Amino acid sequence: MKHTSAPSGENNNEMVVTPWEVKGKVDYERLIREFGTQPLTDDLLKKISSHTDSLHLQLRRQIFFSHRDLDTVMNLYENGTKFVLYTGRGPSGPVHIGHLVPWIFTRHLQEKFGTRLYFQMTDDEKFLIDDDASLPETRKYAYENALDLIAIGFKPKDTYIIYDVEDMDLLYDITLEVAKRITYSTARSTFGFQDSTNIGWVFWPAIQAAPCFIHKKLTGENVPALIPAAIDQDPYWRVTRDIAQKLGYYKPAQIHCRFLPGLGAGGKMSASMPETSIFTMDPPEVVKKKIWNAFTGGKGTAAEQRKTGADPAVCSIFQYYFYLFEEDDAKLAERERKCRAGEMLCGECKTDLVGKLNKFLEQHRERREKAKDTIEQYHIKR
Ligand code: TRP
Repeated sequence: MKHTSAPSGENNNEMVVTPWEVKGKVDYERLIREFGTQPLTDDLLKKISSHTDSLHLQLRRQIFFSHRDLDTVMNLYENGTKFVLYTGRGPSGPVHIGHLVPWIFTRHLQEKFGTRLYFQMTDDEKFLIDDDASLPETRKYAYENALDLIAIGFKPKDTYIIYDVEDMDLLYDITLEVAKRITYSTARSTFGFQDSTNIGWVFWPAIQAAPCFIHKKLTGENVPALIPAAIDQDPYWRVTRDIAQKLGYYKPAQIHCRFLPGLGAGGKMSASMPETSIFTMDPPEVVKKKIWNAFTGGKGTAAEQRKTGADPAVCSIFQYYFYLFEEDDAKLAERERKCRAGEMLCGECKTDLVGKLNKFLEQHRERREKAKDTIEQYHIKR
């Protein structure tokens, strides 16, 4: 993907985390400090689990690790004010497993808290920021990506997908109220806009803000939005939070997740590196090949690895078990122990994973196919 104006770090290993680019080794503690967010404390986790029976894997393993105002939202909830969920997707290409991770968690929240989800498909954003994108193409991916979203199991009654280009009439008045209150100076320093940035992109953040507030317009209820999303989206919420109360809304709250690493050495899973990403439509042989080529924490030879063990901390394969494919904490710990001890070699671990991944993808694709018949039920209800 070629960007019209992508603000970027100069040194290759330097961490860059913006809504358009994630590079280098991501230091999550540093992001909490620099973005000024809050870590998820044990107390807060306890509060959440009191409403969800047990703590979700993605909270137990700190895949969601940071927040803004989640405590406020929980307190309001306990006192009878509900919240709505809001998240989204920039439809620039096919969906990979890294995209599914926060959606799985979002579905869990929808189920446990009985809340409505607004989901924004930003076919407009991807058109504006990518030199090579066309609107028919981003709109087509919005439809394709929605099938993947629905396959996760969201409830149609409580799921409101907004396709920006098609549904802009619903967002436009809110977008204008937001845009009027954010200065160019604030937007430039938050997003790194340059003289060469097209003006559509400069205006665009007001459109991502709008779904935070749309619930009141549709229902008359003023409740906060809680946004589960990867932490790279945080700049949008900073500018939105600054103006929310001026417009008579709650500040939108966030719960931030990490990026699922790609299958290479370091770096997040990214559609621009297809060899190190598993897409939902990858056929079984392709999945197998990608996993067999993945970067692991293994040693040069089997004999050496049996003797000295391997390092799951740097292994891209182990991450898959951690993020998605080993729900049982005890079994995960046992896999880690065996790996470090040299009792289980990479081949066995990869074979297990190929099996689990392909089974998961097969079931996902079945539900995705069925979603073609129900997709209209998920379109924002006017
Ligand atoms: N900008 C996001 C992306 O490029 C898409 C998006 C829109 C989004 N609204 C959101 C993501 C809310 C998370 C939460 O992927």
